[in-house]
This record gives sequence, structure tokens and C-alpha cells, in this order.
Amino acid sequence: MELDEEILNCTRCQLSEKRTNAVPGAGDENANIMFVGEAPGRNEDEQGLPFVGRAGSVLDELLESIDFSREDVYITNVVKCRPSKNRDPTLKEIKACSPYLDQQIKEIDPEVLVPLGRFATEYLLEKYNLGNEKISRVHGKRFQVNRLSGSLSIIPMFHPAVVAYDPSKKDVLLEDFKELRDRG
Ligand code: URA
Repeated sequence: MELDEEILNCTRCQLSEKRTNAVPGAGDENANIMFVGEAPGRNEDEQGLPFVGRAGSVLDELLESIDFSREDVYITNVVKCRPSKNRDPTLKEIKACSPYLDQQIKEIDPEVLVPLGRFATEYLLEKYNLGNEKISRVHGKRFQVNRLSGSLSIIPMFHPAVVAYDPSKKDVLLEDFKELRDRG
């Protein structure tokens, strides 16, 4: 994607000063399903690829549980550079970076968008005027948006990283992922 080059060279916010690599996203640019995480962590910053650390192993397992692999989907984040010490991204950083996500959604034009965790869920529900419900209330729920290019489903899920400190969320994620099964 041409946009990747722009993201790799981006200096729109201060996160660019400390990054090793920006992380545009990876996967099938014609995918029907697009996952949107929060921001790169240390491993992602080092490798320039999304979800390659511990949360990434959980994501792989979840994909596998519905017979998908990374090559079948597109994976990106709301913020493309790592916030130091894995702090939350600021509103300013999200504002500076989100036009890239908007453009990726336009170009990839998925049928299903899956925000992973609070930040991506808040961003996407607001973008499509779907309110600002808490992830604990809306995970696994399908929101339908009618666009000129066809209908779009948004299905928020918990962030795979939660499994590390709340293992019971794994079953919730496995159950929610079943919603995606026939949509690849
Ligand atoms: N967490 C995220 O939200 N995104 C990544 O790419 C990795 C971990």
C-alpha cells in the first residue's frame, strides 16, 4: 500500500522521535476482515509488524480457532508508533494518527471491522456514530453500518493482551471470535 511509505516516514506527532519502526499494518489488503488494535508494543516497534509479541500469540490462537490465519485478514492499530513504556496513547496522538486508519479502511474496504480493546472500540464506534459504549458491554455484539459501498459490520472484542492478567477472558474471546467464522 502506498500509504505504508507515508506512515513509515511520518512525523505528525512526538511518537516518531522515539520509535525504531512505525507499524503500518500487515496482511491481505483485499481482506474481508480487518482487526484494529491499540498501538505497537516493544516487539512490534522492533520488527515493524503488528501483534508479534505476547498479545500476537493470543491473536494467532484466536484466529486458528476459527480456521483463519494472519494471511486471511488485515491487522493494524489506531496508533502506528509505540508509546513509550506501553502507556496509553494520548488523544492528541490518536488525532494525529487516525487519518491513516481512516484511509486504510477506505482502501481495504473490509466487510467486517474488529476493534480490539477500548481505544479501537471507542474510535470506531465514534467514527460511525454508534455511541460510546464500554467494551465490557459491547464485546461480541455486531453493529451494522450502511455505506454506499455496501454494509459494514463492526464487532468489538476484548484486547488479546487482557488474557495475560485475566485468563477467563480467553473463553470470552474464543466465543466472540465464532461470530467471524463465516466471514473470511
Ligand atoms: N497491542 C496492540 O494493540 N497492537 C499491537 O500491534 C501489539 C500489541
